[in-house]
Amino acid sequence: MDDYLVDKLIPFDSTMEQVQKLNNEAGIPDINVAETHGKLLYLLAKLKNAQNILEIGTLGGYSSIWMARALSENGKLYTLEFNPDYAKVAEQNIRHAGYEDKVDVIVGKALDTLPILEEKNVLFDFIFIDADKENYENYLNWSLKLANPGALVIADNVVRNGEVFDETTEDARVKGVQQFMDALVNNPAIDSTAIQTVGVKGYDGFMIGIVK
Ligand code: SAH
Ligand code: DHB
Ligand code: MG
Repeated sequence: MDDYLVDKLIPFDSTMEQVQKLNNEAGIPDINVAETHGKLLYLLAKLKNAQNILEIGTLGGYSSIWMARALSENGKLYTLEFNPDYAKVAEQNIRHAGYEDKVDVIVGKALDTLPILEEKNVLFDFIFIDADKENYENYLNWSLKLANPGALVIADNVVRNGEVFDETTEDARVKGVQQFMDALVNNPAIDSTAIQTVGVKGYDGFMIGIVK
């Protein structure tokens, strides 16, 4: 079904094809967002007229490039990646796609590099959280600190095949997502919902929120 939707709604995309190819060749795990969801991020960033986008968790730059496509002329995307090998591949992909001037890959643990953005005094209209799940609550707090009023915050993997529903889980990643969800309950700083997704990447979901 996902193939059908891609076939109908997403014209053949040689750039994204190339990105996937280089990622595979570089041995990067196949955990990027699905094509339909990459395009969803692009559409939402475009709807938002995002000037500055923040991504936490670059991998090979697949989702970064989707979002970069939505940037206005002077727009900028900062994407944070812990693994220097992944970051190098992402930079290559971003260059091939023609976004090297608009996208900065910042290497290091996001909790160590987010203060750089704070020092730069840059605020974001669109934030995509997709790195280590154990730190999702920290990333939420950073997002609230670095967001413009009205900013859209999206977090990946908030369903994980339904595991997030399991309160007896011992999985640290699932616990991380649960803490993140608990931090959203009645949070006066953000108005949020979630959408469950199914497709080539299995059963998962996005949290989608607007910063007040
Ligand atoms: N957004 C990407 C997929 C990201 S996968 C896409 O859809 O194309 C998650 C990424 O987060 C991995 O590349 C992993 O190395 C990175 N990561 C894990 N822990 C991190 C940390 N503490 N800081 C920054 N990045 C981290
Ligand atoms: C996995 C999937 C993701 O989207 C992610 O951000 C991290 C890990 C996974 O399937 O393992
Ligand atoms: Mg993810």
